[in-house]
Amino acid sequence: MLLQFWFMPKIKQVYFYLNSLNNKFNSLSLTKELIKAFLLFLAGFISLDCGLPDNTTYIESTTGINYISDAAYIQTGIGKSILPEFQTGLPRQTWHLRSFPKGDRNCYNLSLRKGDEYLIRATFVYGNYDEMNKPPKFDFHLGPNLWTSVTIQNASVVISMEIIHVIQSNRLFVCLVNTGNGIPFVSALELRLLNNATYRTQIGSLQLFTRLDVCSTTGSTFRFKEDIYDREWWPYNRNDWTPVTTSYTVTAGSNLYQPPSLAMRTACIPVNSSQSLVFSIDPSSVPNAEFYLYMHFAEVQQLQANESRKFNISYNGQFWFGPVIPFYLASTTVFTRSALTGGDYQFSIYRTADSTLPPILNAIEIYTVKSFVQYETIETEIMYDIIVDAISNIKSIYGLQRNWQGDPCVPEAYSWDGLNCSYNGYNPPRIISLNLSSSGLNGEIPPYIISLTQLQYLDLSNNSLTGPVPEFLSQLQSLTVLNLDGNMLNGTIPSALIERSKNGLQLSIDGNPNLCVSLPCKKNKKKNVVVPIAASVASFSVLIIVLATIWRLLKRRQPPLGMTSITKLFSTDLCLLNLLSDGNTDDESNTLFQSLELKNRRFKFSEVQTMTNDFKRVLGTGGFGNVFYGNIDDTEVAVKMLSLSSSQGYKQFEAEVKTLFRVHHANLTSLIGYCNEGANLGLIYEYMAKGNLAEFLSGISTRILKWEERVRIALEAGQGLEYLHEGCRPPIIHRDVKSSNILLNEDFQAKLADFGLSKTFPIEGGSHISASVAGTTGYLDPEYRTSFILTKKSDVYSFGVVLLEIITGKPAVINAQTNNVRTHISKWVSSILSRGDIRSIVDQRLDGDFDVNSAWKAVEVAMLCVSHNSTRRPTMNEVVLELSQCLSAERARTTGEHGNKSKNPVDMMTMSLSTEIGPVPR
Ligand SMILES: *[C@@H]1O[C@H](CO)[C@@H](O)[C@H](O)[C@H]1NC(C)=O
Ligand SMILES: *[C@@H]1O[C@H](CO)[C@@H](O)[C@H](O)[C@H]1NC(C)=O
Ligand SMILES: *[C@@H]1O[C@H](CO)[C@@H](O)[C@H](O)[C@H]1NC(C)=O
Ligand SMILES: *[C@@H]1O[C@H](CO)[C@@H](O)[C@H](O)[C@H]1NC(C)=O
Ligand SMILES: *[C@@H]1O[C@H](CO)[C@@H](O)[C@H](O)[C@H]1NC(C)=O
Repeated sequence: MLLQFWFMPKIKQVYFYLNSLNNKFNSLSLTKELIKAFLLFLAGFISLDCGLPDNTTYIESTTGINYISDAAYIQTGIGKSILPEFQTGLPRQTWHLRSFPKGDRNCYNLSLRKGDEYLIRATFVYGNYDEMNKPPKFDFHLGPNLWTSVTIQNASVVISMEIIHVIQSNRLFVCLVNTGNGIPFVSALELRLLNNATYRTQIGSLQLFTRLDVCSTTGSTFRFKEDIYDREWWPYNRNDWTPVTTSYTVTAGSNLYQPPSLAMRTACIPVNSSQSLVFSIDPSSVPNAEFYLYMHFAEVQQLQANESRKFNISYNGQFWFGPVIPFYLASTTVFTRSALTGGDYQFSIYRTADSTLPPILNAIEIYTVKSFVQYETIETEIMYDIIVDAISNIKSIYGLQRNWQGDPCVPEAYSWDGLNCSYNGYNPPRIISLNLSSSGLNGEIPPYIISLTQLQYLDLSNNSLTGPVPEFLSQLQSLTVLNLDGNMLNGTIPSALIERSKNGLQLSIDGNPNLCVSLPCKKNKKKNVVVPIAASVASFSVLIIVLATIWRLLKRRQPPLGMTSITKLFSTDLCLLNLLSDGNTDDESNTLFQSLELKNRRFKFSEVQTMTNDFKRVLGTGGFGNVFYGNIDDTEVAVKMLSLSSSQGYKQFEAEVKTLFRVHHANLTSLIGYCNEGANLGLIYEYMAKGNLAEFLSGISTRILKWEERVRIALEAGQGLEYLHEGCRPPIIHRDVKSSNILLNEDFQAKLADFGLSKTFPIEGGSHISASVAGTTGYLDPEYRTSFILTKKSDVYSFGVVLLEIITGKPAVINAQTNNVRTHISKWVSSILSRGDIRSIVDQRLDGDFDVNSAWKAVEVAMLCVSHNSTRRPTMNEVVLELSQCLSAERARTTGEHGNKSKNPVDMMTMSLSTEIGPVPR
């Protein structure tokens, strides 16, 4: 592959050289064809005729492209052919197809290079191949992400999808997913290596919307050989536009987009030369899409000394780019660097006042953004190495009838058999347990396993593994179970591993007759004795330490008379018990208790009086009492005192203590201590200097949060909530997410506060709780309000409302000044959204200073969060992922601005030829 990249530009030249010889040396044609096919392969063309018998290949006559069988790239599926009556008129690569009657997901596995950019084209022709006359519907995935749903409506129609995609790892999976609507199939898969400086996006890949040869004179589509990147071009003609053409070649020179001469030689000008070229994109077939636009220009007429062609481009009535003065017979490309959004896409190419000639347009490409949010698993490559290394006959994997295709962890529904992964929000998934028991592994234990650094559970039992037990297994820090039973391992067990097994690693090595368990070598005839004893000694000592610690803790927390509840919380706290039974080593449980002891300092009421200067400064009023400013030594704190009058208050106090002692996260307020002296109950928190978010969003605040700050605050608060939902076992529902419960510290870092209403799932794995309705008007999930069923999605709803507040700067319930009508913020936003008017949604105080894509995405996420139907709402994992993309989009804009701040949402660039290569008429 390295070779390929190195030589590519040269190869292309050689290719065209050969091509030009074509007519002169016909006798050489056979060898030349072969050389050409080989050169194309080197130039980054991968052309698979799916279903073509293994090891067959041909050169397709119209394009000269060499198609090969797909058999080397996929192990499953069966080759089929469309019925002969459908073949006429269709290109040869569509005659065969591969269909996938078995398995929910079947994947092509292509070795590519990370960072390379490909045009990927998938073609589907049903052609009644199964003689059932039932065209199927199925999903088509690129790596772990849905690319598109394929719906075949007509047996004879060619469906072709194109996407420009940057490869994320050294492997690309193209997967067909059976959705229960017929058997998936694919006819052809083509990949074309592009220059990765072209077609860049801020986020996502580019799906082809249309690619037009403007004022085509042939009226037909074309691709390779006319286009060196094998892009397909469609003719585009209009009555109010008239063609101008040249018979010369239009060179692309160093214009990296390399628009094909055939498209560039024909161009349109307006019929009435004083008019403009006006066109618009009709987005109705792709609702909510974001567009990227590439316009290619070249002068095709030899201008006289007194003639000039000069034009500007406007977008939705506003000046956008210009002036453009196209070069004679050389291409210039004008393109968007950020996505166009908003639902209205009117363009006008108009002549400048000093131009004597009308504007011109030669070719245009339009793409929509396909944002792929799911990350690939970090350890994918390692898993393939393990399988290839340890399983001599790859086909035997499939003999095992296991799903070992595509990305190991994602999508979660199709993760591999025999492994489990951790799905950690916006981080890529990691493999945490691996069961390769009874999988026919042979040879030595695969060395690649050392790279599965998060592994907690490893089962290699009942295989034919030989050789020694490698020392490196002891370096897997998280490993708690290692099962090597029933293999042919020999040698001795490394001492480091024995050491680990004394410290909690559950190691088992039964049934390896040649393995020594101790020195001098005692063969492992029947049961291994050393390790279990060592292990049980280890766990016994852990138990003693744990008991001792609990005892110490309880002793320290002997309650004063009349105040028992807080102590009870410690001993019944679910999270602590879980941690202890998780098989943590004594070290870990010790630090856990130490940190608890440190953090949960109890203070006397007199100490609280001192630290707050006798409750001098009130910071605010919380869920159950006042919050005071205080100091412990040099640390600023906030002290929340429980008002004695309310019994409801006491419950909330208890809930808050319960929750805060369980959770530790940078985006959750942390507890410094508490006071439970007699009737005086208080909680001492870190001080959040900037107060709460609601104050900053309200009209009163003079400090206006920038868009980047808003998105970052939303992301941080979202991460805190995500941690409660996904990082805590069992999960916690906050129940009172609102902007006044999001606190900001000196650096405007956001932390979620007030856990007074929070609830823990009573049983592990429970999906909902029945609970009486509590929360704050405007933020309350309407579904929960009527069903009394509380799920994580209720928090997601409230978070969505907060997000809308952050975006708009308006309160959750908007009071109209004129008629006193109260409108929920989600209604207000959706009414404006239906007009596609993002600028009226975003807080006017920002004065348009934000990235439009970022804002769109934020609004979309927020609106999904406030969906009435909770199943439509995203999880906090997904919300966080989207918000982090909003943030990077905004940061890309602010860092890319280089001082000259432009309020124009769409910046454009040209890429034209440099002067060293001039236009060459043929
Ligand atoms: C483009 O490709 C080269 C070579 O594969 C790679 O080193 C580079 O990082 C890529 N650039 C981008 C912006 O992805
Ligand atoms: C399928 O498409 C062809 C050509 O577009 C058309 O002639 C034919 O009527 C269509 N068949 C059906 C069943 O729609
Ligand atoms: C993966 O998790 C499931 C459900 O928790 C469990 O049944 C299974 O044994 C686990 N598999 C491995 C390899 O740990
Ligand atoms: C590991 O895989 C074997 C064979 O597939 C199976 O019998 C066993 O139950 C699995 N173990 C776990 C913990 O999933
Ligand atoms: C061991 O693996 C073989 C296949 O490799 C299988 O037939 C057998 O049932 C397995 N035995 C146990 C105890 O899992």
